[in-house]
Amino acid sequence: MKLFKAVATALALCAAFLAQARTLDEVKKDGKILIATEGQFAPFNFFDGSTLTGFEVDVAELVAKKMGLRIEWKTLGFDALLTGLRQDRWDLVIASHGITEERAKAVTFTDPHYCSGGMIIAMDPVIKNARDLAGKVVAVQTGTSYLENVQKVSSIKEMKNFPTDMDARSALVSHRVDAWVTDRFVAKAIAQKNPGVGFKLGDMLFIERIAAAVAKGNASLASGWNKALAEVLADGSYAALSKKYFDEDVRCH
Ligand code: ARG
Repeated sequence: MKLFKAVATALALCAAFLAQARTLDEVKKDGKILIATEGQFAPFNFFDGSTLTGFEVDVAELVAKKMGLRIEWKTLGFDALLTGLRQDRWDLVIASHGITEERAKAVTFTDPHYCSGGMIIAMDPVIKNARDLAGKVVAVQTGTSYLENVQKVSSIKEMKNFPTDMDARSALVSHRVDAWVTDRFVAKAIAQKNPGVGFKLGDMLFIERIAAAVAKGNASLASGWNKALAEVLADGSYAALSKKYFDEDVRCH
């Protein structure tokens, strides 16, 4: 019995190691694609009560429908999302990841579903651009492109990392930091929703193209996704969603 258990455990471990990303055909045969996101990055992916929603959640639903698939969603910490792709724990990640060289070494990005960038937000209207960050404490979410780009501003006093973007925002509101760097549409939505708080939107620190990702080298799934995304971009459904969320078209040009 003991031996049996040991063998079973060893086999399970091997299976985990040898797990291969599912190809487009395999996913199609199953009829269901497993997609991971964070769920804490409104208006892109967030919970409305217990319902996962947001612009890119809705874009993914449109794309999956074109692919003839239904989505099973998983939500977890931003930091764990791309790592899980490498372990083949889900087929695709959509969580506002900017396409960076570093990430592209570890995963395969699809075509972008929107274009945006990191914006400087402060409570003090004097802090507007990178130069104004000199000697300041800046909040960013761990594992993001904001972190990388704030790090490049060598004159800052300190960068503080937070597990979620909302925590970084709270740090700004409670004056534990001088500035917060997040997505420009996130910033816009928050400033609009909370006019009394006094968020001051500054300049963009950098721009980026945002895309979904699949396991490194999973070309069939990436191209299946890209084909369906192109259809959604062309048939007006993307435009309607973008209008609903942002009152403008956020696609990359
Ligand atoms: N666009 C930024 C990046 O590429 C932030 C993404 C944050 N996404 C999230 N779901 N919290 O890192």
